[in-house]
Amino acid sequence: MSNFPCMRRFFIWQGTIMALSAFTMPNAVEMIEAAALLCPISYLDHITSRFVLRAVSLHLDQLLITLGLHQLNFRSDTGIQILDSLCDGHMDCNNLLASITGVNCCFNMTRMDYYLEYEPHPSSTKNLNHLFQMIRKGTFARFDYGWWGNLKRYGHIHPPAFNLADIPESLPLWMAYGGNDALADPIDVKRIIKGLKSEPVLVYNDSYGHIDFIMSVNAKDDVYANLIRFFQSYRWLSSY
Ligand SMILES: *[C@@H]1O[C@H](CO)[C@@H](O)[C@H](O)[C@H]1NC(C)=O
Ligand SMILES: *[C@@H]1O[C@H](CO)[C@@H](O)[C@H](O)[C@H]1NC(C)=O
Repeated sequence: MSNFPCMRRFFIWQGTIMALSAFTMPNAVEMIEAAALLCPISYLDHITSRFVLRAVSLHLDQLLITLGLHQLNFRSDTGIQILDSLCDGHMDCNNLLASITGVNCCFNMTRMDYYLEYEPHPSSTKNLNHLFQMIRKGTFARFDYGWWGNLKRYGHIHPPAFNLADIPESLPLWMAYGGNDALADPIDVKRIIKGLKSEPVLVYNDSYGHIDFIMSVNAKDDVYANLIRFFQSYRWLSSY
């Protein structure tokens, strides 16, 4: 079985990190009426994903920059070599999915080949570099260009942080998170919740890993029913 589908969560986590950073900006958040976030990520201090932590400690981002590679594509020959060396003797790469996302209670492994037709997508080296910067420094902040670059772009030596308290209290939020999620650790999710002015609607499942929120065979009952109820409580969706 190929390792490819296991990589997908690595990049898809960005849906929530991009949303949360955008919601701190008035011109972006004014376009949103309500938002539902599956296993939201902003701070990454408690990430337990062995795969990601190993990539960070091996400075995979710096390696790609040094090699002059602008994108990480695990479908390319170089990408497959990188994957092999990340795994080499350090992880159970037969279960790469769990190494990356945490143990998923309800993912249907027999459908792996189907997901493989679409995943994983490549991502830019700069993007990876930005995520790794935040993991290393424990920040939720803009890209760090180094002090001189930061000074030119932001007018500060350090990249400006995203402040969750800047998300308007009036924006209704819904969040689901899981006890086995190695990327969105419950401690980090609770930090998001504490940092917000509003009180999001929460759905927690002790046995869910990161990928379960999209691919659990029970997600319809465990997660989506609640999510749809949340959206339906807004007129704009009820009218469909
Ligand atoms: C798991 O996937 C297989 C292959 O697509 C399918 O036949 C089976 O019904 C799925 N099981 C569940 C519980 O969804
Ligand atoms: C968590 O997920 C499991 C597996 O689908 C399910 O049996 C259980 O009812 C869920 N718990 C909650 C609190 O939704």
